[in-house]
This record gives sequence, structure tokens and C-alpha cells, in this order.
Amino acid sequence: MLKDKIAIVTGASRGLGFEISKQLAKRGATVIMCSRSMARADNSASRIEGKTYPERLDVTNAQGVAEFMRLVAERHKHIDILINNAGYPFDRMIWNKSFHEVAEEDLEKVINVDLKGTFRLSQAAIPFMIKNVSSSRGAGGVIINIASTPAIAGHMAGAPYSIAKSGVIAITKHIALEYGDKNIRAYTLAPGNISTEATFASMTITERKKAAMENSMKRWGDPREVATIAASVASEDFAFATGNTIVIDGGTVML
Ligand SMILES: NC(=O)c1ccc[n+]([C@@H]2O[C@H](COP(=O)([O-])OP(=O)(O)OC[C@H]3O[C@@H](n4cnc5c(N)ncnc54)[C@H](OP(=O)(O)O)[C@@H]3O)[C@@H](O)[C@H]2O)c1
Repeated sequence: MLKDKIAIVTGASRGLGFEISKQLAKRGATVIMCSRSMARADNSASRIEGKTYPERLDVTNAQGVAEFMRLVAERHKHIDILINNAGYPFDRMIWNKSFHEVAEEDLEKVINVDLKGTFRLSQAAIPFMIKNVSSSRGAGGVIINIASTPAIAGHMAGAPYSIAKSGVIAITKHIALEYGDKNIRAYTLAPGNISTEATFASMTITERKKAAMENSMKRWGDPREVATIAASVASEDFAFATGNTIVIDGGTVML
């Protein structure tokens, strides 16, 4: 289904990025799996069957992002799918501050990865996706941005995160509107509580139980449940639904 597609996944060393890479590779895509550490990228790529290439990428480094994109386009000839998944590591100190206590540096740290990272990677990828139109492949590209339900519904904690992820939804809408005629599609995925190292593994048993009770299905989501949706959205099956936010939270925030 994604045969001959070149896909870039940021933050692919673990959690959702790893699972999304796995699902893309399973459907035949060549997946560029990125991490800030080459050793972690290597390790993750080696654990997936299919065509995977590890790469080092820090999404906060604007120059590095541009060079990375050029390198991928040069090596693989085209760029078809971009998954902006990298997220600032969960930091209780920042998360538990009330809105009025959030320091500007806290906001900047989260925005630099989640929002500006998505902005940098998308800006760098789009010129290559536009070129795909004139190629014999006749394709544009697909950009999938990972936001989160607090970006839509707000939350009682983690204001920098909600702010950054709201901006991510705006990026998706701009790309869909501005480049639809170039066959570049964009989507936001907004997961709820999905069990990864950053969430489930870092919580106490009480916190885990409370989080599970927040949705109508009364359970945590599995990373695979986000990854299979990401891989489906990347395919032509979802073409006419471009620009939209897909909430994956067991039935809590409903659009
Ligand atoms: N899990 C959930 O419940 C949930 C819910 C809603 C939304 N999300 C979103 O889904 C995404 C993945 O979440 P997750 O739970 O899988 O998180 P995670 O386990 O913390 O993974 C985050 C990934 O981002 C990478 N990363 C961090 N800073 C980076 C930077 N400056 N440049 C490049 N990569 C960077 C990390 O890779 P390295 O450390 O190897 O560089 C890691 O692979 C995030 O955007 C998160 O906000 C998650």
C-alpha cells in the first residue's frame, strides 16, 4: 500500500514514533527513523522488519533540519511522507505548574520541539513534495502532525504542551489549504492517553488507573492503535479528508 514511498518519522527511537515506523514499514514504505542519538536510531531501526534507515536529527536545530532534508532527498530521490512526532520529554516540573506559574523558558522549551520542530521539518519537506508533482511519480506528499487532545479541549495542567500542540493543528490546516492543489495532504492526529514510556511507564499505579478512567472505554490506548491510523492516513484511502484532526482517545473529546 505504501510501496515505493519514502517516509520520515521524527522521534522514532521509542513510543509512538517507533510504532508508526513499524506500521509504515509493514505496508512497504522505506522509513527514515530519526533520533537525537544515532545509537538509539540504529537500535530502533534494527528492531523493525522492512526497509528502515536510522538517522540523527534534532528538530530544534534549524540548520540541521534543512541539511537532513537535503540529504534524505539526495539519497532516496524523493520525500513522500513526513510524520512530525518528536515531542519534548515529559517533565513533571513543567507539567504541574499552574498557568500563571509557567516561566517563559518552560514555554519556549516545549514550543521549540513540538511546535517549531513541526514547523521546521514541514517547511523543509514541502519543496521536495512539490517537486514530486512534476515527476513521473505524479504524487505530492503527506504530512502527519502529532498533537494531543488538550490542544482541542484544554487541560488542568501542562499549559505549554496544550499551547504548542494547538499551534501544530494550525500548521496542519495551513499546509492542507495552501498546498492542496499540489496534492500535498496534511492531517493532525490527537491521541489521548496512550501507554508509552513517557506516559504510562512514568506514572504511579494510582495515576495510571485515574488516567484510564478518563475515557469512555475505560482503558489506555495502545501505541499500535495510533500507528495503524497514521499508516492508513498516509495512504490514498484518506486523501479527500485532508486538513482534519483525528482524535484517538477512546471516545472522550469528540469533534
Ligand atoms: N503517549 C501519549 O499518551 C501521547 C498522547 C498525546 C500525544 N502524544 C504525542 O506523541 C508524540 C510521541 O509521544 P511518546 O509518548 O511516544 O513520547 P516519548 O516516548 O517521549 O518519545 C518522544 C520522542 O521524541 C524524540 N525527541 C525528543 N526531543 C527531540 C528533539 N529535540 N529532536 C528530535 N527528537 C526529539 C525522542 O527521541 P530521542 O530522545 O531518541 O531523540 C523520542 O523518540 C509526542 O509528540 C507526544 O506529545 C503522546
